[in-house]
Amino acid sequence: MQLRNSETRFGLVAVFLHWLIALLFVAMIAIGLTMTSLALTHPLTFPLYQIHKSIGVTIFGLVGLRLFWRASGTVPPPPEDLTAFERAAARLTHWGLYAILIAMPLTGWVIVSASPLGIPTILYGLVKLPHIGFISARPDKAAIEDVASTVHEVLAWCGIALVALHAGAALRHHFWLKDNVMRRMLPSKVLFTRGKEIAR
Ligand code: HEM
Repeated sequence: MQLRNSETRFGLVAVFLHWLIALLFVAMIAIGLTMTSLALTHPLTFPLYQIHKSIGVTIFGLVGLRLFWRASGTVPPPPEDLTAFERAAARLTHWGLYAILIAMPLTGWVIVSASPLGIPTILYGLVKLPHIGFISARPDKAAIEDVASTVHEVLAWCGIALVALHAGAALRHHFWLKDNVMRRMLPSKVLFTRGKEIAR
């Protein structure tokens, strides 16, 4: 059966959110690794931490929106020519990435809440993100900060590995197998809204 284009590719909102989150994730890894390698007294350290925390909270919101959009609309079925192993690997990678994109902001929030330094987080210099009260009040919060910081770092490396796997697989489909797998997540000249096509 010939499938309609809107049934075989992701909609415009899903595509937009995918690439925005991907871009912000790469930026966050670069900012995170840079800021933690600078001396605390370096003039860029404080602003980099603040922008890191601001973008991290933004990613959390965007991933929530992406999951809401996914749940409330249609998700195109996986391409028919994928093997069972490829389908399982893709599913595992996608849900692993969602889990990391949710867990990283949460562990980041725990780190700043548990830090004995008690530095406030001002999102984009505008809105204060409150610390998690029951964590900042604990006498053993330095130990909590240590654990959360290690988890945050391990998740970052797992995220880098999953993104490399995910992007590598997409590029393999596009350039080697020359199929439509990657094109499903690229913007097209046609606007799509949750499974409905609007021809320009
Ligand atoms: C998807 C979102 C996020 C990503 C990809 C990310 C990534 C990273 C990376 C790569 C590092 C460096 C790890 C290291 O080498 O020690 C880091 C450190 C850090 N991040 Fe995030 N982060 C995210 C969200 C957040 C959020 C929302 C907050 C706070 C509200 C936050 C707070 C921190 C802090 C305080 C550190 C320094 C930890 C330390 O000094 O050990 N992060 N992050």
